[in-house]
Amino acid sequence: MTLIDIERPGNPDVFAAEVRTAAEQIIARYPAGQSRSALLPMLHLVQSEQGYVSADGIAFCADVLDITKAQVAAVATFYTMYKRKPTGEYLVSVCTNTLCGLLGGDEIYRTLSELLGVGMNETTADGTITLEHAECLAACDYAPVVTVNYEFFDNQSAESAVGLVTELKDGRRPLPTRGAPLCSFKEISRQIAGFVDDRPEAATATATGAQTEAGVKLAQQRHDQAPGYPVEHEKKPASEAHAEQVAADNTGAAEPTSAHDAPLKTSASDPDADSTQGELFGKGE
Ligand code: FES
Repeated sequence: MTLIDIERPGNPDVFAAEVRTAAEQIIARYPAGQSRSALLPMLHLVQSEQGYVSADGIAFCADVLDITKAQVAAVATFYTMYKRKPTGEYLVSVCTNTLCGLLGGDEIYRTLSELLGVGMNETTADGTITLEHAECLAACDYAPVVTVNYEFFDNQSAESAVGLVTELKDGRRPLPTRGAPLCSFKEISRQIAGFVDDRPEAATATATGAQTEAGVKLAQQRHDQAPGYPVEHEKKPASEAHAEQVAADNTGAAEPTSAHDAPLKTSASDPDADSTQGELFGKGE
């Protein structure tokens, strides 16, 4: 079996006019002339229509973004969130990374695989469940973790996971431990493409659990504080700010390009860093 249907040229016209309108909305989020930056959400959009990234989906993205199908396929085959075969209504992902694996994730995956009669990236005959084992799902504090369409079911066991998939196969949608109520794989793909989940119950769902906030609460009790961001930015015309950034880049004294970036030069942004390192590593002794 081929991993992706590259034998067929793909037909971009199988998608309805509404999909093309949604694609234009995605592209409009990016600066003019940089529509290719929209490729990642575009791939989720076509996945939301067909349940996977088909040859047609690749042709559609290439057509709308004016890039080659080879460029689209190169991206689509790199990221595991883009599925290369039709996906079931529910994508069940079992974390088998080190922590979850040791705490029961391996057993959960093995048990579900035997129960459902499917292996990695395979779908049950009724089209309900696609099973996969996943790398760290960024919820180690709730290990072992299972997600269904990327919603978390924390602290699972083989027994509870069997109960979970049994409910799904029976047409029920158990509530995730936290996060929005379940929807279908196509619906979550559309949300990941950047379209709002307008279900009222999704807007009011709790996103975190006690473990998530434990570190922050402990820091508050201890009155711990992280150092403030050290660079004072003046509001300058864009052209002037850009010229300064280019000059800084050329001298190697670049500053972060946004408040979300880590300092590019620790000693420049944190004058105490050298002396701190001296203390830590016995510099000068
Ligand atoms: S190892 Fe499973 S969520 Fe991190």
